[in-house]
Amino acid sequence: MTISSNSALVLHNRFKSMTRRFRFSPRRRQYCVLTTAVILLVVVLSVVGYLLSGMHYCFDVLVEWKISKICNQYYTNEVTGYMCPELCAGDTISEFHCPPDRRRTGEYSFNPNRFLARKAQQFVVVKHAVPDASYEKLSWIDSHQHEEHFPTEAEYVGIVRRYIELRYNLQLPFDKLNSLLKLKNKNNHILFRASMRNSWNLIQNNEYLLSRLYEEKEIFPQVIGTCGDLFITELLDTVEFDERRYHFTNHIDLSKWRYHLKVAVLILDYLEDMAQNRFQMCSVLLAGFGISDSRMKYHDLRYISTEVSIDRQLSDGRWCAEDADCSYHDCRSRCNTTSRQCTTGLLNNNLQIVCEKIFRGTATEPGILVTEKSPNRLLRILDRCAQPVSRSDVETGRPWGASKALKKQLYNELTGIYEQLASSLYS
Ligand SMILES: *[C@@H]1O[C@H](CO)[C@@H](O)[C@H](O)[C@H]1NC(C)=O
Repeated sequence: MTISSNSALVLHNRFKSMTRRFRFSPRRRQYCVLTTAVILLVVVLSVVGYLLSGMHYCFDVLVEWKISKICNQYYTNEVTGYMCPELCAGDTISEFHCPPDRRRTGEYSFNPNRFLARKAQQFVVVKHAVPDASYEKLSWIDSHQHEEHFPTEAEYVGIVRRYIELRYNLQLPFDKLNSLLKLKNKNNHILFRASMRNSWNLIQNNEYLLSRLYEEKEIFPQVIGTCGDLFITELLDTVEFDERRYHFTNHIDLSKWRYHLKVAVLILDYLEDMAQNRFQMCSVLLAGFGISDSRMKYHDLRYISTEVSIDRQLSDGRWCAEDADCSYHDCRSRCNTTSRQCTTGLLNNNLQIVCEKIFRGTATEPGILVTEKSPNRLLRILDRCAQPVSRSDVETGRPWGASKALKKQLYNELTGIYEQLASSLYS
């Protein structure tokens, strides 16, 4: 008893002397409290700011830094590309900056790897092919000599051909494959490996690959050149709409109404191109459409792929609790509630998505075809297209998709209204 109380006293005294040694002067303590408070405040503010800004922000300085980093790699022969000399000289391609902020219009879909630049008199888009989770390495390092091994050129061509076959279910003809690869510097060992590595990075980027493979179809932005894992494409003229259209009881000018109709017809034409090439668009926004040489194109190819590949992706057997778990953005599927797995492919289609999101919209954000000038017949077609029910309105094999017959009706209705407006203008 006494022994333990003694030792407690010793401990207490030792603790006292320790706190005395570490005790701050009042001024120092005040300083400490103040600094901690400021640091905490900054941390809280930056976290709140980060969350409010939708998790992403783009800084012009960082874009410049990224470009100069790739140019340094170009000067040390680590990367290659046709566009490198122009990109790195800084006189023909310049003014790198972040894309304009579209969040205000509610049509924001941030791509952290997309920037703008000026090339001569035009603006162009610079995209960075950043490896994603499914990225596969090309070279391997042997455990014996710790050397990096690359495939031969013939092997590489085979690798790319199989990769495209597996991912998109596309069989590429030989000449198409060669024009896609365009490997250079075959007699310089170091440069050849660099160009193979860059080519492989780019090929695994969906946006680059689709643009290059479908170049002559003119449905995706044209690739102007590459440097390392950067590629440069044309910038589309975005279709511009009056934000005030959201108050749809407001009067809409005749000229604006004609513009809405024209854009809708061009979008339907675009869907025809998509259907012919069996492409599925899984995130459709009005701001994604743009015009190049009077052709409608879609600029954000991150969520576009072949129908086969989307079907496979949606029915991959993931665990699910509800239908939404089996969807990929706007591409929808169903959850099997017995097995709790996603085993069904795509159920809707491009036309249904466009009708629902772009043409019809919602009560608070009406689509481009819902105005005070829209005839009731058009509105009824839009409802049927956004939520097809009757057998003739549903596409075969896609129970939630809108049929070709319905697309034709919509097309005829739109061109009919357009022509009627034109004739009433000139009579
Ligand atoms: C759901 O899964 C069960 C068990 O695998 C299967 O028997 C059933 O046919 C599936 N239902 C649908 C609607 O696919």
